[in-house]
Amino acid sequence: MSKSPKHFLDINELPLSELKSMLDASSAMKAKQKAHQPVRPLEGKTLAMIFERPSTRTRVSFDVAMRQLGGEPIMLTGAEMQLGRGETIADTARVLSRYVDAIMIRILNHDALLELAANATVPVINGLTRRSHPCQVMADLMTYQEHRGPIEGRTVAWTGDDNNVLASWAHAAERFKFQLNVATPPELAPKKVMRDFIKATGAPIMIGTDPEAAVKGADCVVTDTWVSMGDKEGEHRHNVLKPYQVNAKLMSLAKPDALFMHCLPAHRGEEVTDEVIDGPQSVVFDEAENRLHAQKGILAWCFDAVK
Ligand code: CP
Ligand code: NVA
Repeated sequence: MSKSPKHFLDINELPLSELKSMLDASSAMKAKQKAHQPVRPLEGKTLAMIFERPSTRTRVSFDVAMRQLGGEPIMLTGAEMQLGRGETIADTARVLSRYVDAIMIRILNHDALLELAANATVPVINGLTRRSHPCQVMADLMTYQEHRGPIEGRTVAWTGDDNNVLASWAHAAERFKFQLNVATPPELAPKKVMRDFIKATGAPIMIGTDPEAAVKGADCVVTDTWVSMGDKEGEHRHNVLKPYQVNAKLMSLAKPDALFMHCLPAHRGEEVTDEVIDGPQSVVFDEAENRLHAQKGILAWCFDAVK
């Protein structure tokens, strides 16, 4: 019987030991890349990348990661495929599985991702859905570790709305056992799926509405755009989120050596001020760089090529 494919769909679905081995592989491949020693475990492999929504980092970093590992990426957009004319996601999964060795997809509908994975006979990677963004948080964990060592037992503060990046941080808090303090406006608070997750797992996550309380004493402060892909823009949304902006005053409540993280793209002057994002505590471009390296670990894991 053929083995089931190793999908990378969400951080909380994988054992901590496998997540750590992906991060270790990412760091090892990063060191080799920096030393100009190519590592090419994916020679002859092809990755289909389907984008239903725009992307700069995810698109370019997966593309470059595949090439540097010896494989080939194929860039596809939903609109250019028959998917855009009503072919089912299940049939798309069955067909692509006959051509390529893995599929990475960015699609807002999380159930569509799950359907793709259920019908694919090759690994499927979540490149962002409305519900989660696990590849981003793997890069963020790698970045934290590089700057400050293990994240276990540390405190991460999230200020902003409830979104896909926060969900993956919550999954990571449960697996890696760090405290996650969340502050959102009451009307943009974590939904039932997150509250149920916390209840079911006992994850060390505190949900509140006060950004100062969340950030106080934190080792890392994280925020994200106030308007995620698929959200409705609006003055009201901006007004309720204004008190959640990461500025120098809010940042000063965290530990003096706290890191500032943001997955990018940033909306400067909205969720974060220039002073913070360009300041000495910000590691946003290290996070962006680590998308490349973290994805190599994820790809190698999917292909069973983690040494
Ligand atoms: N952080 C992130 O996923 O960026 P892109 O939307 O540019 O891929
Ligand atoms: N929360 C953002 C992340 C972008 C990388 C969005 O979904 O648009």
